[in-house]
Formats: sequence, structure tokens, C-alpha cells
Amino acid sequence: MDTQIIYCGDCLQQLPKLPDACVDLVYIDPPFNSNRNYEVFWGEGKEKRAFEDRHASTAAYIDFMRPRCVELARVLKPTGSFYYHCDWHASHYVKVMLDQIFGENSFQNEIVWKRTTAHADTHGFGHVHDIVFRYSNGKAPTFNVQLKPYSEDYIRNYFVFSDEHVATRGKYRVNDITGSGLRNGETGKIWRGIDPAKIGKGRHWMRTPDELEEMAADGRIHFPPKGGTPGWKRYENELKGQPIDSIWDDIPALTSFSKTPKEALGYPTQKPLALLDRIIQASSNPGDIVLDAFCGCGTAIVSAQNLKRKWIGIDISPTACRVVAKRLVKDCKLVEGKDFVVRDLPRSEDQLRKIPPFEFENWAVIALGGIKNKVQVGDMGIDGRIYPAHSTPTTKADHLGFMDVWYPIQVKQKDKAGRPDIDSFEAVMMRENRSKGFFVSFAFSRDALTEIDAFFRREGRVIIPLTVRDILDEELAAKLA
Ligand SMILES: C[S@@+](CC[C@H](N)C(=O)[O-])C[C@H]1O[C@@H](n2cnc3c(N)ncnc32)[C@H](O)[C@@H]1O
Repeated sequence: MDTQIIYCGDCLQQLPKLPDACVDLVYIDPPFNSNRNYEVFWGEGKEKRAFEDRHASTAAYIDFMRPRCVELARVLKPTGSFYYHCDWHASHYVKVMLDQIFGENSFQNEIVWKRTTAHADTHGFGHVHDIVFRYSNGKAPTFNVQLKPYSEDYIRNYFVFSDEHVATRGKYRVNDITGSGLRNGETGKIWRGIDPAKIGKGRHWMRTPDELEEMAADGRIHFPPKGGTPGWKRYENELKGQPIDSIWDDIPALTSFSKTPKEALGYPTQKPLALLDRIIQASSNPGDIVLDAFCGCGTAIVSAQNLKRKWIGIDISPTACRVVAKRLVKDCKLVEGKDFVVRDLPRSEDQLRKIPPFEFENWAVIALGGIKNKVQVGDMGIDGRIYPAHSTPTTKADHLGFMDVWYPIQVKQKDKAGRPDIDSFEAVMMRENRSKGFFVSFAFSRDALTEIDAFFRREGRVIIPLTVRDILDEELAAKLA
């Protein structure tokens, strides 16, 4: 099966391309059912786009997610695991839906990810955590216990005894060396005169009598001076780590103040790599296939790649798909087209007419080899900039420009750009004192083209009108060259 692929499109349409039971781990973090507007900061910088969460009600959200989760359950192997990341807005409804799809007995964990400590809420207790549900798809899901360091308090309070091994093994604490319940085999036998069956309601040794002797010879058994059941010495320096439980409070969210600001791409729903590393390491092994069907800027994909898993990403947003591709190239040193591919980006005029305006602008600017304008709010008529190869760094530090020569790009997702559109772009070119600019639209009216000529004759400045068809043809020509 093909992996290392980012599919652009609704996962409901893309998932049928995958066969049954082919994926080891699914992680999804779909847009939440929240009432607030999300400020989406695509790419770097302060570019702001507000979009309304589409799901007017919880029922509509669940109706939207159910067929997608059914498809995800279909592609999951019987040994596979499914993680659904959400928050208080819909988590209870999501749990009921997932119980119905996977079966109540397949529910494994409700993980509480405490993503922030501060959340001012004067009307109630602040919401500081997300929920991640973990389901198995069969009886024996892959699971690798994850460990974290013990807290200093725990070590200080519990590891208080020392013996002749203190220099190498550190201090120790004493743990029970028996477990509850009777056993008929070796571990149920009398050892050093103690019958485990007679301890409490009946217990057994955690090791065979021979092993207990070896441990005693190595000084690892604590014999109470006044008699009684021996204990198991656990030394501080030999601690492997504390098994991670369902409360995850050791992974901070990505903010500009966090310890990992470099990781943050400025996309508010971006999850930290450490969170995905934990999920992927717990529920998959190297070489396994990880699928994120709402991959955003690709945290699960980058983590899977770093951890030597195969992966498949899906996102409905062409911009998100490009962000993932860029991240794989930059952070994982992969080569697009060789190490991974992006499929199904909008390629036809018809498809491009239908994508949201900001996706269209991104498409056009990227296709022209430009850089998106960072300040979207009040962009003053500039959607992107092209820095030609000969442009050099400027000393004049304006808030955006870092090169002396740049050409503005204006994008209009219109059937036909008219004279008024060109007039306002001319004003931009005059204001910014630019000699050349690019204007992208589906077509240009005769008036618009006449005005572009007149502007050149009047001011000596060039506006290059580009139709979507021109750009698509050029992309095709570049591909065939
Ligand atoms: C919350 S973000 C995911 C963030 C991601 N976990 C990360 O760390 O970057 C949700 C993503 O789901 C995508 N999305 C929304 N509806 C979708 C659909 N029907 N199919 C695939 N992706 C979708 C959005 O474009 C958005 O990028």
C-alpha cells in the first residue's frame, strides 16, 4: 500500500481509497464543536483569518464526524488503535458515538491532556485540558508502556533508606514482594519458612523461591529486623521511570512563550510534537502505518516520520497540505516527489473556483513562487510578494520587507477582474513605488486590459495580468519540461 502521502480533500472522499484493515494507528484532531471563532494563523507571522466553526450544533457535529469515524474504523487493523482528540465542547457526545462504532468494550482510555495552567474564567472553573479518547479495534492492540521521570518530591519522600550499596544504587524504598491471590506453582511455595498463602487472605510471591534467593544474595530483599514478610528493595538509581497514566500534565501547549517556540508554526490548533510522539510510541512500532485524517500542519505526520513509522495524512485544506509538505522538507529533510508526495491538490479551474477565498489566494501566491503577505488584516491590497533572484537584503527595516526589490501580487477569485480592480491595484503600486506587479484572476475584462496598457504608458509601471488558466498551463509545462 502506498504511504508517505498527503491527500488533499475531505477524508470522507479520500478514505475509500484505502483498503480494509491496513492502518496500525489512527489519530484525529478534527475541528472542535466550539462556538468561538478560530483565528487561523496560516503559515508564519501574523497572518490572520477568522473562520466560523462550521458545526452549528453538537448533533450536526456528530452527524458530520460519524461517517468519517466509521471509515476510519474500517481501515484500522484488528491490532490497531484509534485516538480522537477533542475537548469539553463535544467530548461526551464523541464518546457515545465512538462506543457505538467500536463497541463499548473497545474503549481503553480517556486521556486528559492538561494543556495550560491559566485560563481566566470568572463564571466558572477554567477549562485547561483537552480530551483524547483511545479505542482499540480488537482484543490485542499494540501498546508500549511509556515512562516519565519520577518527581523529585516522590524520590525525596519515599527513597529514604540506605544500605551498603548506596554509593552505586542510591537510596531505596521497600515494596511488597507478594501479590494478591493464591498460586499453585513455584510462586505459591513456602520460602524461608514463610507460606504466602497464609499472608492476609492468601498471596503469592512475585518471583520464584530460586529467584528470591538470588535477589537476597544481591542484597535486594529487605528482611524486617523483627521478622514478618520480607520486602523488595527498589533503588533510586535503578528507577526506569514512572509509567504514564491517563493524566498528561507534562507536555505544554505550543505558544510563543513555550519552551519549544521554534516548533510553533503560528497555527493555533497545532499540537506539540511531544504529545504525538507519546501516542505514536505507545500504540505503534517502527514500520507501522500511522494515519491522521485531519492532519492540519502535520504534527502526527512529522512525529511518525521521525519515529520511523510509515504515514498517510489527509486534510481538506490545500494550504494545510502545503504547510505539511514544507515542514517535511524543512524539519525532516525529505525531498518532495521522492520521499513523499502530495496528491489531489486542486488542479482544475473548476476546483479552484470552489475553494475558499483565502485558500485560493494561497494557491495563486505559492504557484507564482511568491510569499504570502504576512499581515492579512489590513493587507492594503497586497496578497503576496515576489522577490526576484537579484533582490538583496535591505537595511531599511520596514515591518515586512527584507529585500529591496519585490513585486506585489494581487489575487481576485472572480470570473472577470474589471477596471475598478485594476485601478485599486495601480494605487497600491504607486503607494509602494513598485515597477512591476502581478494580478491574478479567472479572466480580465477588456476595460481592465486597456487600463493596464494605459498605466504602463502613463507611469512606466508594468502590471502583468495572469489568468488561472495561464498559471495552470505554466505548472503543466514545468512538469512536462
Ligand atoms: C484542529 S486542526 C488539526 C491540527 C493538527 N492536529 C496539528 O497538530 O497541526 C483540524 C484540521 O482538520 C481539517 N479538516 C476539516 N474538515 C476536514 C475534512 N472533512 N477532511 C479532512 N480534513 C479536514 C482542517 O483543514 C484542519 O487543518
